[in-house]
Amino acid sequence: MLGARVGAEARRTGCVLAGVATHAGPVVRTLALRQAAAVAGELAAALSALAPAVAGEALPPESTSQSFFRVREVELSDQQAALHGVLVVHRGLEDLCDAPLSGADLALEVAGMRQSVLDLTGAGPGAGPDPVPPVAVPEPGAGASPESEWSARWLVGHQVHVLFNVCAAVAVADATRHLRHGDGDAALLRLADATVYVRGFPAAMAHASAIPADHYMAEIRHTMAPPSVDVPLSGRQHRGYRLFRAAMKDLLSEVPDSYEQLASRAPELAEARGALLEADIVDGERHVTLAYSMVHLRRSIAQKPEGPDNAVAELRLMRHRRAAQYASLIRFGDHYIADAVAGLRHS
Ligand code: HEM
Repeated sequence: MLGARVGAEARRTGCVLAGVATHAGPVVRTLALRQAAAVAGELAAALSALAPAVAGEALPPESTSQSFFRVREVELSDQQAALHGVLVVHRGLEDLCDAPLSGADLALEVAGMRQSVLDLTGAGPGAGPDPVPPVAVPEPGAGASPESEWSARWLVGHQVHVLFNVCAAVAVADATRHLRHGDGDAALLRLADATVYVRGFPAAMAHASAIPADHYMAEIRHTMAPPSVDVPLSGRQHRGYRLFRAAMKDLLSEVPDSYEQLASRAPELAEARGALLEADIVDGERHVTLAYSMVHLRRSIAQKPEGPDNAVAELRLMRHRRAAQYASLIRFGDHYIADAVAGLRHS
């Protein structure tokens, strides 16, 4: 545990984050986000009083993608992991004060942030929403130009996405371990946590992309391809996301039963697994439409010029493969696609 002060700050942050999503109007919503950002800042200060943050820039990146998105991978103590996670949440919240996100995506992203604060600090959600004393919310500064704000948002949203990927991978791996040890109740809890994160994936993706498509095309896209970087960047290179995919594969090797088989022997587990898999399919679906809004029918920067597909077609294929794989595992599986994919495999 990280101490009573951190525990109390973490629970307070969790309560304030739980309140953000319920604020509907834009003015109240911005105030709620400012308050949440201020509270997350206080939690970061409490954590860094225990030991300062690791200087990420001093660590070698594992890939060009990590270097571009300012992500690093290193062994951390519990305190350091909590601090760095909270710093990502803090930056994300500050940016959300100005980012034009839908209310639904805001609720999902903030729910993922809340879950990560609770998981990383080891603080339970508490018995109920403790009364949260008001915090001093700093006045918004004069602000950077919209263009630099949009370019920063592209990185900040990606960092929140990476945080969710890693936390989801840990939650799924925990659930699988509990299932192997026969602790079904603990597995259900971690599957529910994982689902919060996976629902947050497309919300964080929408956050990163809450910028004009023209700005992406003119100012950001070319910085992710040679000669600006040595290799073209692709989402496939995100190592945190690969960790999540590996954890999902392991989970499904532990519980490979069809939805009906699982529902007859462990109905709650069938529902919890179904919720997670549905969230994963929807993430794939939203990626298609998001990429379409940004690049329309262009080839992605990472595709070989001679290849048949464009970015949208490639993402659609990813969605279809996932939906086919999960069709028998969920209640409302996409059996048309599963049959079509099976037919293609046999032809
Ligand atoms: C914040 C998270 C993400 C955002 C905002 C995002 C956004 C985008 C955008 C805008 C494109 C079109 C790229 C272009 O040509 O300009 C794209 C393509 C693509 N993304 Fe993502 N993406 C994210 C994460 C991921 C992750 C984790 C994966 C993991 C598989 C992924 C896989 C792909 C693939 C396969 C393509 C098309 C082909 C390629 O670039 O390799 N993305 N994404």
